[in-house]
Amino acid sequence: MQRIMVTGGCGFIGSNFVRHLLATDPGLSIVNVDKLTYAGNPENLADIESDERYAFRQGDICDRDFIDGVLGDGPFDAVVHFAAESHVDRSILDSGPFVQTNIVGTQVLLDAARKHEIPRYVQVSTDEVYGSLGTEGAFTEETPLAPNSPYSASKASADMLVRGYHYTFGFPAVITRCSNNYGPFQFPEKLLPLFISNLMGDQPVPVYGKGENVRDWIHVLDHCRGIEAAMRNGKEGEVYNFGGRCELQNIELTKLLLKLLDKPESLIRYVQDRPGHDLRYAIDCSKAERELGWAPQIGFETGLGETIQWYQQHADWVARIKSGEYTRYYDQQYGDRLDRS
Ligand code: NAD
Ligand code: TYD
Repeated sequence: MQRIMVTGGCGFIGSNFVRHLLATDPGLSIVNVDKLTYAGNPENLADIESDERYAFRQGDICDRDFIDGVLGDGPFDAVVHFAAESHVDRSILDSGPFVQTNIVGTQVLLDAARKHEIPRYVQVSTDEVYGSLGTEGAFTEETPLAPNSPYSASKASADMLVRGYHYTFGFPAVITRCSNNYGPFQFPEKLLPLFISNLMGDQPVPVYGKGENVRDWIHVLDHCRGIEAAMRNGKEGEVYNFGGRCELQNIELTKLLLKLLDKPESLIRYVQDRPGHDLRYAIDCSKAERELGWAPQIGFETGLGETIQWYQQHADWVARIKSGEYTRYYDQQYGDRLDRS
């Protein structure tokens, strides 16, 4: 591949993906389309801004003329679609932007990619489309979709559109579904960067419910390698699950963070649970291992230690985000809950 378009490259996973590809494939150039919502941060790619293989186009994936124009400046060998509203709690406060960006935006991209005959399209999806597990079992690619939050419902809807375009038009798409990512450049509204940054400032950490919910954690670079493998070698029309084989209850993870940061357990606040909170996610990623030759490489202890260090070394990055709009969101999301605890 010589030239690809990435959407949402200024977000957490997208920026890690762009940096990873430019570092490992000297023959590749990338056009990054990003609207720069609250979660999009050009600082995340500041170190590669001057790389002549990288170009940034600010715009909305829902804007048909804009997307048509970018893809018209081709040729492109692939479109890798990360751009999304990505936070479950925000989808509970207002699902509107989720429906617009995650569903309508995907439809716009699919139409433009068809029109410009892009030979490969990767839909970056999530394990959350499968719904919630009990204490046993793991999601496979055959698990029926049963999304439980407005976020996961919008991602499942987008996946269904991709599937429909593949079956109807022979559109050359693959879908990836991954578990919870952690690593550098993650917006501090998600559990890990929120808790790490709060603890760095000796602030309390809000654990939903009893902290018994289980998530499977994967380092963002392992996810990026999986997306790359799906982009290069995935079979058209197929779905590939990625996971870290690292299941932890939220309270276990919280106590591990307290230990690693040397903070007291008195900073834990058990707050009112998230409505519709999925109990457990676990991923069977044996298909990706078998068919793509992919496997997670970064052990959780090493990855988490390095991630904590990264946030400690980028306290100014965190501080710039945790102001303005972020403060308003934080008060709306946690104000009452933290007061009542
Ligand atoms: P993020 O919220 O950090 O970044 C999203 C990016 O998309 C931002 O740069 C934002 O500016 C951009 N964007 C949003 N709306 C846009 C629009 N209308 N037009 C153009 N750009 C727009 O998200 P993330 O955590 O990096 O997630 C990336 C993708 O991976 C998402 O599709 C998400 O559903 C999926 N995913 C995330 C995880 C995870 O753990 N974070 C796990 C599995 C799948
Ligand atoms: P999150 O990072 O929002 O990812 P997702 O909901 O997509 O899995 O949350 C991870 C887990 O942590 C989830 O079970 C909800 C829980 N959680 C809290 O307990 N407190 C918080 O403040 C947040 C943001 C999440």
